[in-house]
Amino acid sequence: MLTTVRKNTMLADGIYRLILSAPQVAADAEPGQFVHVQTAPQMSRDPFLRRPLSIHECSPQEGTIALLYEVVGRGTHLLSHLQPGDEVDLLGPLGRGFTLVPGRRPVLVGGGMGLAPLLFLARRLREAGQRPAVLVGFRRGRDVVASEDFAALGCQVEIATEDGSVGFRGVVTTLLEKHLSSEDAVYACGPRPMLSALKDACQQAGAPLQVSLEERMGCGIGACLGCACPTPNGYVRVCTEGPVFWAEEVDLHG
Ligand SMILES: Cc1cc2nc3c(=O)[nH]c(=O)nc-3n(C[C@H](O)[C@H](O)[C@H](O)COP(=O)(O)OP(=O)(O)OC[C@H]3O[C@@H](n4cnc5c(N)ncnc54)[C@H](O)[C@@H]3O)c2cc1C
Ligand code: FES
Repeated sequence: MLTTVRKNTMLADGIYRLILSAPQVAADAEPGQFVHVQTAPQMSRDPFLRRPLSIHECSPQEGTIALLYEVVGRGTHLLSHLQPGDEVDLLGPLGRGFTLVPGRRPVLVGGGMGLAPLLFLARRLREAGQRPAVLVGFRRGRDVVASEDFAALGCQVEIATEDGSVGFRGVVTTLLEKHLSSEDAVYACGPRPMLSALKDACQQAGAPLQVSLEERMGCGIGACLGCACPTPNGYVRVCTEGPVFWAEEVDLHG
């Protein structure tokens, strides 16, 4: 479907927030779902494949969605040049999102751009009367984005940076270990080693963990098997059975 750019703002070096007019997606989206974005300019087929991006925020009232993305290659570089009024073709909302766990304290853990799907989730949890703790980790202080958006929702936010220039010096998994209790439900998105460490910590604490996985994608709709990921019971397609899984459903150590 064709959507229209409302705003495309650089938040930090190479990190952008893109707001799109997309009323149908905004009406249907659930936290943890993604959209599959055609980044090639009209009349061009380069890049040929769409690029998956999580739904960062969603306003059904305004008919908009926000995407938070880092420029890492040609597709995201092209996105960074979009101007208000430009059209963007996307598919979505796609995939299986997070399941809200009632009766436990929600702890949201994001590594780098892995925080992208967590803001929409935090809003839904607040609407459900829960007050999430949000733990986010970045390599450098200058990469820190969106933490004020979580705070504005009334979440308790803690930041870890590997260079120590903002918040706790170290990785976000160390922050989690300080917080974690058997009363928590953990929702996470980030690099695979982070998710693997979280799985061990949550298993030890007896806290349920959901993880959002990133795999390179082809079709985004379950047809090409390009996003297949091993599990204890065979392969799953991250684009349709995921991207969000209960931690015990997937093999994170590979
Ligand atoms: C379900 C899902 C949700 C995602 N949500 C976000 C998001 O909200 N914000 C965001 O910034 N990124 C997100 N990503 C990652 C994003 O899709 C890639 O960064 C993007 O496709 C890169 O496209 P490119 O053309 O700029 O780079 P390319 O030239 O395709 O690749 C550049 C580099 O990025 C790596 N890369 C490419 N695609 C992926 C991928 N899918 N996963 C991991 N590494 C990849 C490549 O290995 C290469 O090193 C998500 C990925 C998935 C699967
Ligand atoms: S990307 Fe084609 S099956 Fe998942």
